[in-house]
Amino acid sequence: MPSLAVIGSQWGDEGKGKIIDFLDAQADLIVRFQGGNNAGHTIVVGDKVFKLHGLPSGIVRPGKLAVIGNGTVLNIEELLDEIATVEASGANIDGLRISDRASLIMNYHKKLDGAEEKYRGGNAVGTTKKGIGPAYQDKIARIGFRAGDLLEPEALKEKIAFTLPYKKDLMKMLDAEMCHCTPESLFDKMNGWGQKLGRYICDTSVLINEALDAGKNVMFEGAQGAMLDIDSGTYPYVTSSATCGGGVCTGAGIAPNRLDEVLGVVKAYTTRVGEGPFVTELKGGDEVTLQKKGGEFGVTTGRGRRCGWLDLVVINHAKRLCGFSSLAITKIDVLNDYEELPVCTAYKIDGETTRYFPASISKLNRAEPVYTKLKGWKGWNDTEAVVKGGWDALPQEMKDYVAFIEKHTGVPVDLISIGADRDETIDRRHNWWN
Ligand code: GDP
Ligand code: IMO
Ligand code: MG
Repeated sequence: MPSLAVIGSQWGDEGKGKIIDFLDAQADLIVRFQGGNNAGHTIVVGDKVFKLHGLPSGIVRPGKLAVIGNGTVLNIEELLDEIATVEASGANIDGLRISDRASLIMNYHKKLDGAEEKYRGGNAVGTTKKGIGPAYQDKIARIGFRAGDLLEPEALKEKIAFTLPYKKDLMKMLDAEMCHCTPESLFDKMNGWGQKLGRYICDTSVLINEALDAGKNVMFEGAQGAMLDIDSGTYPYVTSSATCGGGVCTGAGIAPNRLDEVLGVVKAYTTRVGEGPFVTELKGGDEVTLQKKGGEFGVTTGRGRRCGWLDLVVINHAKRLCGFSSLAITKIDVLNDYEELPVCTAYKIDGETTRYFPASISKLNRAEPVYTKLKGWKGWNDTEAVVKGGWDALPQEMKDYVAFIEKHTGVPVDLISIGADRDETIDRRHNWWN
């Protein structure tokens, strides 16, 4: 099987980085296809911890091509900082490739992100303030810069001459610093970016398609999660990109028939950062216990993540939009301290029961979770036995929890993660690439 996408099934932070790292030993290319450095993907290998934002997770494995696809948004200055950090941790970036069609995040996008949040007031989305939304706005408005512009200084000058006056007028009310920016100073800065990163910028769609033609193994690395998708998530409390199955094709520059499998990453409970509806959210102090036990604090912003029980209405919504052929359950070890584990299988809204995730925020705010209570595995804590013995060494209640998810989604759970480290993973399938 030469192509596999790994996509978050909830509101992000499901453990995608860990799962990608577990599976990418045999991959030749690892491709980010959407989002930007709003993402925070953690990889733990022994005593080394990598926190990746804009770089694909495959960058930490020597000999891989780590591709930033055309559907992403890229803050070059922050990417250069991230490159310096991963290089200092011993990773090599020779395999980095950046699509010449990737959109650039400019400083004014970050300022606008903050300003838009301020004007939204009580309806703020709770963005990462990385400039993601405004950068995608400019892409859609056809006034954005792209990585390929950095390779053509004369065309870049023309583009700056056209874009800067408009942006300066727009920014006058927000940012005095922007008023001092001249076409020459902006050109010098961007031309410097081209000199630093130009050798990595290319047509990554051609690169990926040729790799697939040659039978190479290609992984697509989702950022955020299905419920943050611009179309199918909890709009407007979403990110500004296509996080689901279709986003893989448009964001990597491949046709739909080139995607063989989609692995959905499901955290054994639910978390969300920022605002927006969350039907199974815990309140009244119980959320703090789960937050502490799971270390649920954002990798990018440090914000505490909201916590709640597993919601299979959400997972089935994500399954339909992403086409999950396999699931990976992560952080199941975090649920060790519970006698009983409620799992939501439907919502009750205005007296009616539904298994479908509604578009309406007000309906979601009125939705009550319908729970099935499963027996917990309180007291179990033998990760070491599971690392050695695999599935057979799991407590029966944990196996039942996994079986319940399989039954209600109709998708096999092929991976179970019981710790942050690469080794703390049960692989029930083994053969991922044939
Ligand atoms: P991502 O954005 O989906 O890649 O996930 P994050 O890296 O933002 O958040 C997942 C967090 O959980 C990270 O700190 C991981 O190191 C950690 N993690 C991943 N899998 C497991 C697991 O199975 N058990 C535990 N306890 N931690 C995990
Ligand atoms: P990874 O890839 C969790 C959330 C923000 C906010 C909303 C919009 O690590 O799973 P944005 O800055 O994208 O405009 O913010 O999306 N968000 C994430 N939440 N994990 C992420 O990435 C996220 N990236 C954005 O908190 O609610
Ligand atoms: Mg994250």
